[in-house]
Amino acid sequence: MRERFRVVGGAHLVGEVAVVGAKNSALKLMAVALLAVGRTTLTNVPAIADVTIMAELLRRLGVGVDYDPAAGVVVLDVPERIGHRADYELVRALRASISVLGPLVARVGEADVAVPGGDAIGSRGLDLHAAGLEALGAEVHVTHGYLVATAPGGLHGADIRLDFPSVGATENILTAAVLARGTTTIDNVAKEPEIIDIAEMLVSMGARLEGAGTSRITVHGVEALTPTEHAVVSDRIAAGTWAFAAATTRGDIEVVGGVAEHLRAPLGALEEAGCHVEVTARGFRVSAVDRRPRAFDVATLPYPGFPTDLQPFALSYNAVADGSAMVTENLFEARFRTVQELARLGADAQIDGHHVMTHGVPMLSGAPVESSDIRSGAALVIAGLVAEGDTLVSGVHHIDRGYPRFEQALRALGADVTREPDDEPPFE
Ligand code: EPZ
Repeated sequence: MRERFRVVGGAHLVGEVAVVGAKNSALKLMAVALLAVGRTTLTNVPAIADVTIMAELLRRLGVGVDYDPAAGVVVLDVPERIGHRADYELVRALRASISVLGPLVARVGEADVAVPGGDAIGSRGLDLHAAGLEALGAEVHVTHGYLVATAPGGLHGADIRLDFPSVGATENILTAAVLARGTTTIDNVAKEPEIIDIAEMLVSMGARLEGAGTSRITVHGVEALTPTEHAVVSDRIAAGTWAFAAATTRGDIEVVGGVAEHLRAPLGALEEAGCHVEVTARGFRVSAVDRRPRAFDVATLPYPGFPTDLQPFALSYNAVADGSAMVTENLFEARFRTVQELARLGADAQIDGHHVMTHGVPMLSGAPVESSDIRSGAALVIAGLVAEGDTLVSGVHHIDRGYPRFEQALRALGADVTREPDDEPPFE
């Protein structure tokens, strides 16, 4: 059933919100468990739809998966014999399914993973994944919509250089190289905290590697890995979402469990724009109660640059901040669906190629808008909080994929946000 959020405008978000483990780590760690026979336990796992889909994908590979969203725990029971095919039906629903590619090639010598295709934010290539696995000795081709990688004789070490620090390619090459014969070096890798999280779990399974978090990772292949227990790293994108929610609504939020160190670029920009930002014992706090913060320019970059996943929130923020600013998207060519929807709310924003120029207005005006993906949907809800009247945000299923109990968290901060079926006429 399609659902929407009814967002009542004029809220200042005040209070505390807790962030748990990162979607963009938990999903990959579940795939990493495939590398070792036995029972692996993940804790601090978010209660989100994407984890449910990943659990289903792993069950179809023969893994026993026990997911307790309330406790934030996933137990993965990996048998000796597992499948090697990731169905289109699931991969289409969850692009992150591609992260089973590396572990399957390494563990069973073959992986057939449906090619995800593009999505709302742009074309999502796999050429760097394929080139990396080929360097490790796999034969890779695409047939009937599936990327098929085979290495019947196993993988061997190699020196690999990525043309671009792709998160997904770094993860797949790393998780394949840990069981390859010999040493692999991977240069120009992604440095995101989620990569460090995966590396830490691999090391706790017996992998031998160094350099995660830097631009070169070196892996010394081992014969086999053992199951483990691992706590998922805090979700920096969820934490960044709440930082922008505080700034945009001129509120005051403590993000409990948020790691300010992982958000230097966005928090630094908010502080420079006049928000009060402080690290607390439990996380960090962002406040903009005393004055309208200034708009600021953003250029999205791989970590530690400004994350592309926070770009829609910078747009909502700049739409009501003091002054004009330019947002430049450098990672995904089609990640500006938020702009048209913000314009429906009265934002003064113009797209020019991969730039958006905004001129801040004091207040937006409520209207029906449509989510196109996780981050854009959540950013529109926040924009609705600074709009006069009601805003109806459709496509809530996108938001549920990445934010646990989003409307409950907003209500606890003083917002009036309700979930309702999306079949009634928008306004009485
Ligand atoms: C991950 O996607 C995240 N998804 C994305 O978050 C995030 O936006 C992205 O990293 C960048 O930070 C998950 O972790 C599940 P990339 P991923 O490979 O791995 C191009 C969210 O909202 N590229 O770093 O797909 C690609 O087309 C999501 O949580 C190639 O050309 O990102 C893109 O332009 C959205 N060839 C750029 O690199 C390749 O082989 C970055 O992609 C691989 C990537």
